[in-house]
Amino acid sequence: MVRLLAVSGSLRQASSNSILLRAAERLCPEGISITHYEGVGELPHFNPDLLEDPPETIMALRSIIGQADGLLFSCPEYARGIPGAFKNMLDWLVSSEEFPGKPVALFNASPRASHAQAALRLVLDTMSARIIEEASITVNLLSSQLSAEGIITDPVMGPLMGTALDAFKRHLDNQNLLGC
Ligand SMILES: Cc1cc2nc3c(=O)[nH]c(=O)nc-3n(C[C@H](O)[C@H](O)[C@H](O)COP(=O)(O)O)c2cc1C
Repeated sequence: MVRLLAVSGSLRQASSNSILLRAAERLCPEGISITHYEGVGELPHFNPDLLEDPPETIMALRSIIGQADGLLFSCPEYARGIPGAFKNMLDWLVSSEEFPGKPVALFNASPRASHAQAALRLVLDTMSARIIEEASITVNLLSSQLSAEGIITDPVMGPLMGTALDAFKRHLDNQNLLGC
């Protein structure tokens, strides 16, 4: 069983990115478990002064990241960039032991969000994450109002997501076989 941790870059109640991650959970092919990290909006502002004795919420974040075999991110674009709350979470993970080398699949709910996606890739690369291209997908949920059920039963989005999750599992299984 591979354990994925899903994190949405949007704090919005009806977020399309969060719905996309919920759809991934509902679709969840055999051999994958997906849990959601819901604490992005609760984290304190990043301050390097606090790194020596990080707040409890940050220790909990690091622990849950450490327990995941792979991360599933879905992040919107705000003002051509990464939303502040999500970047704040990443800043807390820069100097962590748990994050570097972590496999990441990037889900994206908007084909328009190209600046944020590019910025996110640069940040993740800088943080030594491993972006798994075959598990990274863009779907178009802009103004679609689709529910998680609507996404997984969509004739294009459902199979695209299934293929991406299968590819992520295959990658993680191979990685475990190689012992890295
Ligand atoms: C303050 C603000 C700034 C935004 N800036 C951009 C932008 O630069 N480019 C873009 O494609 N969409 C932009 N959007 C649209 C959001 O990315 C879009 O509404 C997206 O669906 C939000 O993600 P969510 O549904 O997961 O909350 C912006 C939205 C807001 C509220």
